[in-house]
Amino acid sequence: MTDYQKMYQEKLATAEELSARIGDGWVIGTDAAAACPAALLTALAGRARQDAVKGVKIQTLLDVYPLEFYADQSLYGRITGLSWFSSSGARKAINGGWADYIPNYYRDTPAHILNNYDYDLFCAEVSPMDKHGYFSLGTVSSYSAAMIAKAKHIFVEVNDRQPRAVCGAQLHISQVDGILEYSHELPVLPAAKLDEISVTIGNLIAEQIPDGACIQLGIGAIPDATGMALKAKHDLGIHTEMFTDSMVELIECGAVNNSKKQIHRGQSVTTFAFGSQRIYDYVDDNPAIAILPVDYVNDPAVICRNDNMISINAALEVDLWGQACAESVGPSHMSGSGGQIDFVRGACQSRGGKSFIAFPSTAKGGTISKIKSILTPGAICTTSKNDVDYIVTEYGLAHLRGESLSSRAKQLIAIAHPDFRDELRFEAKKRGMLI
Ligand code: COA
Repeated sequence: MTDYQKMYQEKLATAEELSARIGDGWVIGTDAAAACPAALLTALAGRARQDAVKGVKIQTLLDVYPLEFYADQSLYGRITGLSWFSSSGARKAINGGWADYIPNYYRDTPAHILNNYDYDLFCAEVSPMDKHGYFSLGTVSSYSAAMIAKAKHIFVEVNDRQPRAVCGAQLHISQVDGILEYSHELPVLPAAKLDEISVTIGNLIAEQIPDGACIQLGIGAIPDATGMALKAKHDLGIHTEMFTDSMVELIECGAVNNSKKQIHRGQSVTTFAFGSQRIYDYVDDNPAIAILPVDYVNDPAVICRNDNMISINAALEVDLWGQACAESVGPSHMSGSGGQIDFVRGACQSRGGKSFIAFPSTAKGGTISKIKSILTPGAICTTSKNDVDYIVTEYGLAHLRGESLSSRAKQLIAIAHPDFRDELRFEAKKRGMLI
């Protein structure tokens, strides 16, 4: 029998030793959130500071650790970040001009990786090796398999606190070139502030969700508030991109049991999990959650196989045509499209399905209406006028799918903040939209 422990010991090194094997010009792939190997990348940044390495490019998705090549502009050229989505670190660097961004639908990232990129190194944080020589990629599946297929070398960072996903991605020790051990707490997503407005919106959406529905909740306070508003429902299912704290709450209170799903009955399906320690404890060794590749999970043709599929996502602004921007404030980059369109389309194609894009009617202390006559110049249209279904604010719901321009404008003005309705009506009338 193969002695996996012996192989493990032979491949074991320190973060500094592994980072010293990374050469000039290497392209490095990492996956989302807690999959990022923080100790290795910190050691690499240390080498870059000493001018020991240059021209390295690192791809990230949802960066949740403070990554030095995003935080420190002086590392540009020695290490340059390239994000498939962005969190606050990558966002600052992309807007500052010392990091780059790859536009994509999240479901397509594995195909882009297979078609467009080669990697000198794929690196990931993993849970401890099992007796068969496998490391679980823990909380993330996403596009890891595609990067592994295109990588010349693979390094893993073993964290004994990384959960083992029994229905998730795995790497075998025979595929791995270097191992380092780094025991640390996983990153925590600060809980969203559930104010009166988010709770009102959550309740409005919850009224539209029947028992037995299958749900996806996106990123932000409103999807979280909707999750909380679903606690009185029965027999809900989960098919989502990001598995969140509110979903664990729904499972533990009995509202979710996945019993009515058409696919993966009895299991919650996601492509990564990110939140508090409560999520990580839930994922560990739990066959009730499947963490699967994003080209499967986010494929609208897969999503719509569950009846009554409900997707709930946020946006920064919406114009009177119903075009939703969820990625930028004007031309200033905020995040990628993620899976918003994947789930809007999947939900709309599902029998009984609905998609909700929800947000408070105003931003910046009530000074800006998030419903606009036209999108702010430079704003990115994430969900198009042809895909959009429901828009929700604390003033109600607008059902836009299949509706005329005039009906859209009237409905959207009716759910805008009262302080902005006259101005919106004036603009709509001027453009001949109110017939
Ligand atoms: N004009 C100017 N600023 C605005 C604005 C507007 N219309 N709308 C929001 N903002 C500001 C807010 O004031 C806030 O600023 P602050 O950080 O200085 O407080 C910031 O933009 C974020 O707004 P907020 O409403 O708190 O966003 P959120 O946390 O609810 O996230 C998205 C909203 C759209 C960024 C988020 O949902 C996202 O990343 N979406 C990506 C696509 C997606 O939906 N993917 C599927 C997910 S799994």
